[in-house]
Amino acid sequence: MLNSSMDFFARICILSCLFSMISFQLINKIHASQNNAFNVQDYGAVGNGKSDDSTAFLKAWNETCSATTGTPTMIIPKGKTFLVHAIDFLGPCKSTTVYVQLSGTVKAPEDPSAWKDHDVAKWLGFEGIKGLNIVGFGQLDGSGQKWWDQSCRYRPGLKALVFRECKSVNMSNIFLVSSPKTHIHVMSSQYVYFKSLVIRSPETSPNTDGIHISDSDNVWVQASTFESGDDCVSIGESTTNIHVGYCNCGPGHGMSIGSLGRTNGKEVHVENITIKHIQFNQTTNGGRIKTWQTGTGQVRNVEFSNLQFTKVKNPLIIDQYYCDVANPCKATKTGVKISNVRYMKAFGTTTTPVAAINLECSENVPCTNITLEDVKLESAFPNTEVTSSCNNAFGYAKGIMEPKSCLK
Ligand SMILES: *[C@@H]1O[C@H](CO)[C@@H](O)[C@H](O)[C@H]1NC(C)=O
Ligand SMILES: *[C@@H]1O[C@H](CO)[C@@H](O)[C@H](O)[C@H]1NC(C)=O
Ligand SMILES: *[C@@H]1O[C@H](CO)[C@@H](O)[C@H](O)[C@H]1NC(C)=O
Ligand SMILES: *[C@@H]1O[C@H](CO)[C@@H](O)[C@H](O)[C@H]1NC(C)=O
Ligand SMILES: *[C@@H]1O[C@H](CO)[C@@H](O)[C@H](O)[C@H]1NC(C)=O
Repeated sequence: MLNSSMDFFARICILSCLFSMISFQLINKIHASQNNAFNVQDYGAVGNGKSDDSTAFLKAWNETCSATTGTPTMIIPKGKTFLVHAIDFLGPCKSTTVYVQLSGTVKAPEDPSAWKDHDVAKWLGFEGIKGLNIVGFGQLDGSGQKWWDQSCRYRPGLKALVFRECKSVNMSNIFLVSSPKTHIHVMSSQYVYFKSLVIRSPETSPNTDGIHISDSDNVWVQASTFESGDDCVSIGESTTNIHVGYCNCGPGHGMSIGSLGRTNGKEVHVENITIKHIQFNQTTNGGRIKTWQTGTGQVRNVEFSNLQFTKVKNPLIIDQYYCDVANPCKATKTGVKISNVRYMKAFGTTTTPVAAINLECSENVPCTNITLEDVKLESAFPNTEVTSSCNNAFGYAKGIMEPKSCLK
């Protein structure tokens, strides 16, 4: 099982690399034939990793975004490291499609004091852009170490990359490392495609989610690898039609819907989520849905399928009692309604013998129409049984079912 699925993933990697190389060459040809490339070096970027290249980047972006002919492309050349402070690439642009060809390395300042006059919510922001392609085999380095070393109190929610109010974005073949917190946040955006990304931060780095998605519709995350100190992908509130597939996750906290419903009064609406063909390696969770007791609204039409687990703590988990604040979360008559969740083809090993399947649903609004189909979870340790545990979880199981289903 493990060997054949690894073989399968290796093949997908090879295919997607070949495809990327071909499209990369095509893009180069397009650029060579059109005189609308804006190289940051032509705007004063030095690329020695020390000089501040922020202004040059903004100038090159401004020209790219104002260009009206061909395929305007901002070029960040290979073989150089550009030090760039917190900046925003703002739209709307004049052309229907603009490119950022990221071939070199772009690095954030190492010292948090560089944010003194900047918004500590992000490093690089793309805002209000329609039709954006970020391509190129380059690297973004968030220089997170000094942020991780600070105590929690002084660690704001600094994200490496934020897409806000964007529409039609493609980002592929980018290596993104060491974000102070969440690596990529997609907010208030539609039609965003991520493909062949590698996101990497140490397992011990706090709150370094791979991709967080909120208030967005139609987002795809495909053929990507996540290694970090928090969720590989986390799906937040007001999200619809989100598709995550063919990804590797671990170390990290798994693929997560939530936490949802923290903000009192705001209705949760999460619908049409698919998380398929994921390899989880030594993560704390596999497929997870977590909601606050105090939330309202609903999560429906969720499919987790073709999941392969290696030494995962909680492979399949719903936690409707999530609470991580000092003042205890009050038990109220509310709850986020979870329905139509399918777990299909989930195999592999777990390190917690009790409750490899753990569906803890709200007593006020039980989970309904939960399906378990072809699930086989075994202990990573010899001679250890695994079990499932359900509370207020209704639905049915079919096909292979190990451990036995606890659905009512
Ligand atoms: C941006 O580009 C426009 C048009 O090319 C120019 O008029 C404007 O001064 C530029 N702004 C900056 C901040 O570079
Ligand atoms: C992004 O990729 C999709 C699928 O390949 C394509 O249909 C779409 O036009 C691309 N978007 C942009 C902005 O180029
Ligand atoms: C969810 O998917 C179904 C079936 O594809 C579609 O009819 C429905 O409009 C989607 N819901 C949302 C909120 O997009
Ligand atoms: C899981 O991760 C470990 C250590 O990070 C690595 O040695 C191992 O090859 C990985 N296993 C799989 C199945 O990817
Ligand atoms: C139960 O959920 C499945 C998806 O998992 C959906 O196809 C089906 O329509 C749902 N049934 C009801 C009665 O809502």
